[in-house]
Amino acid sequence: MARPKLKPGEQGNYHVSRKEQETRKVRKRLRTHQRDLKKQEKKAVRKREKIKNNKELINVIQSGGVTTNTEVEKLLEDDQELVFAPNTGPQTDFLAAPEKEVLYGGAAGGGKSYAMLVDLLRYANNSNHRALLLRRTLAELTELIDQSKKLYFHAFPKAKFKESTKTWEFPSGATALFSYVDKDDDVYRYQGQSFTWIGIDELGHYPSPYVWNYLRSRLRTADETIETYMRATANPGGVGGWWIKKMFIDPEPPNTPFWATDIDTEKTLVYGQNHVDSGKPLFHRKFIPARLTDNPYLMKTGEYEAMLYSLPEVERKRLLEGDWDVAEGAAFTEFNRSVHVVQPFEVPEGWAKIRAGDYGYSSPSCIPVKINHTASE
Ligand SMILES: Nc1ncnc2c1ncn2[C@@H]1O[C@H](COP(=O)(O)OP(=O)(O)OP(=O)(O)O)[C@@H](O)[C@H]1O
Ligand SMILES: [Mg+2]
Repeated sequence: MARPKLKPGEQGNYHVSRKEQETRKVRKRLRTHQRDLKKQEKKAVRKREKIKNNKELINVIQSGGVTTNTEVEKLLEDDQELVFAPNTGPQTDFLAAPEKEVLYGGAAGGGKSYAMLVDLLRYANNSNHRALLLRRTLAELTELIDQSKKLYFHAFPKAKFKESTKTWEFPSGATALFSYVDKDDDVYRYQGQSFTWIGIDELGHYPSPYVWNYLRSRLRTADETIETYMRATANPGGVGGWWIKKMFIDPEPPNTPFWATDIDTEKTLVYGQNHVDSGKPLFHRKFIPARLTDNPYLMKTGEYEAMLYSLPEVERKRLLEGDWDVAEGAAFTEFNRSVHVVQPFEVPEGWAKIRAGDYGYSSPSCIPVKINHTASE
C-alpha cells in the first residue's frame, strides 16, 4: 500500500494508518464535546436551583416573612451573584419580621439603615407598592439616597431615580419616596396620600410619637396581595428615647411580638365599642435589638468598635451595647436589665420583705425588695 501523502506541516505517524488517525481525532473531539456537555449540564442544574431559590425567597418575602434564620440561609445557599445578603442574626430577623410595626434599635453600626433600604423592597415587584422612607432632615436623607443608588441600580438596573422628587420608580411601577419630616406639622404634606410601606430611619430624633402615629393613618392599600408595614430604626437615648422605650422596648422582652399598647395607659389598643371586633387587639409590634458585633462589614478591622469603646460611659452603653435602660445622670449607670432584672415570680413564704423609697427629683419611686436567706448566692 502506498505511503499516505502528508499535508504541509503534518507530522507523519507511520505506526498508525491514516484511517486510524482520523478515527482517533474524531474520538478525541467527541470526548471534548462530552466533557463540555457535562459542564453545561452541571451549570444548568445550578442555574435551575438558583432560580428556584430566588423564586421561593420572593414568595416567602411577599407572603409576609419567614420564621427562622435557617430558612433564609437555606434559600440563599450557593448563590454567588447576590446583590445583598442579610447579616446572620438581627438583620435577618428584621427583614423577615411579619409584625405590623417593628423597631430595629440599638448599637451604632449594627446594619440598621442598610436593612431599611432592603426591607423597603419587599413588594418592589408589585406595581401597587408605594414606600415612604423618612429621616428628620434633608442632610440626613442624602446619605441614605446615596446608598440606595448603589444598591437599587444593582438590583434593578432599569430602575429610575427622579432627583427632583427624590422618588424611585422600579420596573414594575412600584415607587419609593425618600423624604424628610422635621416638625410635627410637616406630616400634613402626606395628607390624602397612601403608602404600603412606611419607614423612619432614626426614629429617636423625634421628640414625641406624633409623626409616627400620624403616619399610621397613611398606611393602606386596596391590593390584597400586599401586607402593609411600618418600620423604624433608632439608637438608644436621644430626644425620642423616652417614648420609643415605652412603645417598643418596655412591653415585652426583645424579639417577642406583642399587641400594640397605648404608651400612656399601657393598655392594649383595641377596636371600639361599635365595631364587630369590639375589644379585640389591633396589631402586633416587635423590638429587635441591633448589635455592632452582628455586622461583619464594620467588625472586620475592629477600628469602629475601638471608637465606640472610647466614648463616655453613658454614650458607650447606648451606642456600643445598645442599652436602652441607661439614663443620663443616673446614679447606677452599671444597671443592666439582663443582670439586675428577674422575671416576676411567686415569692415563697418565709422570705424577708423590705421596702425602700426614693423621692427622686421628679418622680418618687418605691422599690420592694425580697430576700431569700436560704439561697446560696
Ligand atoms: N447585609 C449587608 N451587606 C453589605 N453591607 C452591609 C450589610 N449590613 C451592613 N452593611 C454595611 O455596614 C455599614 C453600616 O451599616 P448601617 O449604616 O446600616 O448601620 P446602622 O446600624 O444604621 O448605624 P447607625 O446606628 O450609626 O445609624 C453600611 O454602610 C454597609 O456598608
Ligand atoms: Mg443608621
